[in-house]
Amino acid sequence: MNVIIIYFSQTKNTEKIAYKIQNGILENGNHCRIEKIKDVDIEILKNFDIIGLGTPTFFYREPRNVEIFIKELPIMKDKHCFLFCTHGSLIGNTFFRMSEALKNKGLVVIGTFDTYASSSIQFYPTPMHTEGHPDEIEFKQAYQFGKEICGISERIRQGELNLIPEFEIISDTWWARESERLTLEVLRKISPEFKINTDKCKRCLICQESCPVGAIDVEVEPPEIQKEGCIFCWACEKLCPVGAIETNWDLMKNGAAKNLLRYIEVLKNAEEKGKFRPYIDYKKIY
Ligand SMILES: Cc1cc2nc3c(=O)[nH]c(=O)nc-3n(C[C@H](O)[C@H](O)[C@H](O)COP(=O)(O)O)c2cc1C
Ligand code: SF4
Ligand code: SF4
Repeated sequence: MNVIIIYFSQTKNTEKIAYKIQNGILENGNHCRIEKIKDVDIEILKNFDIIGLGTPTFFYREPRNVEIFIKELPIMKDKHCFLFCTHGSLIGNTFFRMSEALKNKGLVVIGTFDTYASSSIQFYPTPMHTEGHPDEIEFKQAYQFGKEICGISERIRQGELNLIPEFEIISDTWWARESERLTLEVLRKISPEFKINTDKCKRCLICQESCPVGAIDVEVEPPEIQKEGCIFCWACEKLCPVGAIETNWDLMKNGAAKNLLRYIEVLKNAEEKGKFRPYIDYKKIY
């Protein structure tokens, strides 16, 4: 089979999983190409038997650039697709939302893989509770998922429709309400201003190239970050090697304390069910 994996990744968790899945797919004699979401030409997608789409979770759902990517896809009736996701403590409605949007384009989601992953957000402590993930076990699981996905596609094509997963939206939890509340308009109001300090900026382009929506231009004078286009991934400020993107996280830090307790609760529940292995002493974080 001919597979393409498309992924969005800023701190490399999703990228690492993409390559493990690719290894598994190749193991069984299939072809598998990998593309970053920003670089892929959507016109070529019709040439593949299966499309894999990988993303982090942002705000308990898929990031806005991934939402836009799916919206811009052409109709590809009955094309098989699989999803994968890396996330901190809560994947939220990521797969439900993506599968619904893909269904509208005619695609059939035939499988999903997700894993806990390290998380780095400026107004939370470092390291976070999911540090150390994906671990070796999760990498092996991703590889195994890749090894099996073409076989699953084949079996569905031969009529085993019961293999097609079903997704349910969750709306009656604190995080689901929080996800609904955090529209781009709200994020624009609560996210602190980013200013590029032109004395410090080396025009290295790291921020510009890591911005998933092209909201940064450091090749103009003065360099600019447009809050209008921003999807609040906060990667530019995190990745600038010389701290030239200046901001103040104090207000965000106030709200973060309450969420930390909730994340710990979620992870403790997952641990009890054997779904999560902590590598960090929670007490040292909070
Ligand atoms: C802006 C932002 C929002 C995030 N929101 C969530 C979230 O709602 N739930 C979650 O489990 N992890 C969340 N995370 C953590 C990321 O999903 C996780 O670190 C992911 O592995 C990052 O993928 P990458 O390394 O491929 O960029 C968030 C991270 C960022 C930067
Ligand atoms: S990453 Fe920092 S130094 Fe590099 S262009 Fe952006 S602001 Fe300037
Ligand atoms: S936070 Fe920075 S990198 Fe992220 S979308 Fe906004 S401008 Fe782009």
